[in-house]
Amino acid sequence: VFLGDMNSLGIGARAQYFVSVSSLEEVQQALHWASEKSLEPLILGGGSNIVFAGNYPGLVIRMAIARRCWEHIEGDEATLVLGAGENWHDVVMYAASVGYRGIENLALIPGTVGAAPVQNIGAYGTELRDTLLEVNALDRHTGHEVVLTNSLCHFSYRDSVFKHEPGRYVITTVRLRLSRSRPFSLDYRDLADYFDGRDTRNLTPLDVANGVMAVRRRKLPDPAQLPNAGSFFKNPVVPLATWHALKQSYPDIAGYPGDDSAKVAAAWLIDQCGWKGYRNGRVGVHNRQALVLVNHSGGSGQDILALADRIRSDVEARFGIALEMEPGVVGSP
Ligand code: EPU
Repeated sequence: VFLGDMNSLGIGARAQYFVSVSSLEEVQQALHWASEKSLEPLILGGGSNIVFAGNYPGLVIRMAIARRCWEHIEGDEATLVLGAGENWHDVVMYAASVGYRGIENLALIPGTVGAAPVQNIGAYGTELRDTLLEVNALDRHTGHEVVLTNSLCHFSYRDSVFKHEPGRYVITTVRLRLSRSRPFSLDYRDLADYFDGRDTRNLTPLDVANGVMAVRRRKLPDPAQLPNAGSFFKNPVVPLATWHALKQSYPDIAGYPGDDSAKVAAAWLIDQCGWKGYRNGRVGVHNRQALVLVNHSGGSGQDILALADRIRSDVEARFGIALEMEPGVVGSP
C-alpha cells in the first residue's frame, strides 16, 4: 500500500501490509494478526511526525477510532472524550466554537488526537499536558486496556512515557479537562504581538484559535502545499551556565531561559549556519523557518535524513550543541 498521502512529508514509501482500525477490538485483531505472521506493527496517526526511511516491512495500522463526547459537566468545567483517530485541529476548533478553553493555542497542529500525547504537543505557551486528564491505551505487554492518568504519562517538553517505551502502548481514547472560564495564555511573544493593540477584554477561545492560526500561517508551511513535518529538531535544553556562556559569545542568540536550564532556539542555531532557504534538488529548509525541513518534489526519506545530518553536524561543529530530531524514523532503505 502506498503511504505517500499518509505522511505529511509526502515520502513515497510503501507498507507491506496495511489496515485501518476504528475500534479497540479492531486494534486487538490487527495486532493479533501481525503477531501470528511475526510482523512488526506500526501505528500510524496523521503521519505528521514521522520519516519513512524506506518501505515499511510489516503491518501499518492506521488509527481511525472516531469519538467525540462530553462527560462530567460540572460548573464551568467539562471533560471532552476523544477517539484516537480524531483530527486534532478539528477538535480544537470544535471545543473553541462551543466556548471551552484550554487547547485554543494548539490550533493548526497537524495530526491525530492519539498522536498528541506521544510528543506532548505544544505551542505558544501551552502543552497538551496542561489539559490532559487521562489516556486509555492498549498495553501490548499484557494485551489489556489500561488507563494512564496525566502523571503516569510522565510528560515533559516534547516527551512522554509513550516515547520512553516505544511500541508498548496503543492510545485509543484521550480525555481532556476543559473550562469555560480559565484565563487565556497570550504571553508567548508571537501571540502577544498579534493581540497587541487589539481589544482583548471579551476574547472568545475561537478568537484566540484564529490568532494562533494567523501567526502559524505566517511562518509555517502548510503540509498540503509544501510537505513537511513541522519542527524537525527539538529545541535543545542546556544548563543555565551554558546558556549564559552562549549569550556572552552570541548576544543575539534566541532561547527561553528557565529556572535551572534553558531551551535554545534550534531555529536560530540552524539559521546562523546559513541553512534557511537552502534547497538541494528535491528537499530543503523552509525559507521562513529554519527548523522546518521541506520536501519540494519527490524527495525520499534518505534525502531528508541526509540533509538533517548535515545540519546537525554544522550546528555541532559551530556551537557544540547536538540537535535531536523530533520526528520518529521508521522503515528500511
Ligand atoms: N529564528 C531564527 N531563524 C528562523 C526562525 C526563528 O533565528 O528561521 C529565531 C527567532 O528569533 C525566534 C526563535 O528563533 O525568536 C524561535 O523561533 P520560533 O518562535 O519560530 O520557533 P520556536 O519557538 O523554537 C517552538 C515549537 C513550535 C511551536 C512554536 C510556537 C519546538 C521544536 N518548536 O518553535 O512547534 O509552534 O514554538 O510555540 O519546540 C512543532 O513542534 O512542529 C512546532 C512547529
